[in-house]
Amino acid sequence: MRSVIIAANWKMHTVPAEAAGLAATIAARTADPDVMQVICPPFVALAAVRDALAGTGLAVGAQNVHHETTGAYTGEVSAPMLVGLATWVIVGHSERRRDAGETDELIGRKLQRAWDAGLRPILCVGEQLEDREAGRAEAVVDAQLRGALAEVGAGEDARARFAGLVIAYEPVWAIGTGRNARGADAAAMADAIRATLSRLGVADGGSGVPVLYGGSVTAANIAEFLAEPTIDGALVGGASLKPDEMAGIVGRAAVTARARLAVASGNGVT
Ligand code: PGA
Repeated sequence: MRSVIIAANWKMHTVPAEAAGLAATIAARTADPDVMQVICPPFVALAAVRDALAGTGLAVGAQNVHHETTGAYTGEVSAPMLVGLATWVIVGHSERRRDAGETDELIGRKLQRAWDAGLRPILCVGEQLEDREAGRAEAVVDAQLRGALAEVGAGEDARARFAGLVIAYEPVWAIGTGRNARGADAAAMADAIRATLSRLGVADGGSGVPVLYGGSVTAANIAEFLAEPTIDGALVGGASLKPDEMAGIVGRAAVTARARLAVASGNGVT
């Protein structure tokens, strides 16, 4: 059964001193054993957030990782450097594709490094508005997945690596805009994503891979996404900096998680 996951992407917000307090406040208001939560602060706040979250059950994630393990890459952070600070990492966020020119091939190498270091990656994919309007959304996401995962799929231990994979479907036009996708469209994309994963050789047709929705998620709209059985949670940006919003989002996720657990354990409660 897939976990319900709420991942918080703090982007370039918070300095270490305030990050620790914010993480502790969110943990105190949201910790729930049925919801997997990941807080992804800026690199410089990872240690503070790790310490603040110790013993809460919430995990720590980085927002990016370099595609090499070591070398002359001024200002970069590699996967081995993150070990001990984070257990998750966001890879291929659209803001990095846009601002740092990250390609699918490069993102695939980052995934590889993350897996090699034992970090659990959240791979972000999503179309531009013009792609959706032209009816190309699924083709764009299919190409992103293939571009990032094809090399990984060729590896001998692909099955084991894919086992930890999480996909975040984030339509670019919905990120930070207040204009979220519709739940039904996100659910259709989740089906398309698993179809691609299946073709790439992911075990069980991709049915074990959690697919999150991201893009202007709030406490007010999270229910629309979690009502879709193919959606397993959210990657939350702006709202993840607000404890009230996180309390609402994780609270709703807990309802979904318990309903799904009840169905899985056979008592039919939905
Ligand atoms: P948003 O960001 O929730 O602020 O739209 C989501 C993301 O970029 O992951």
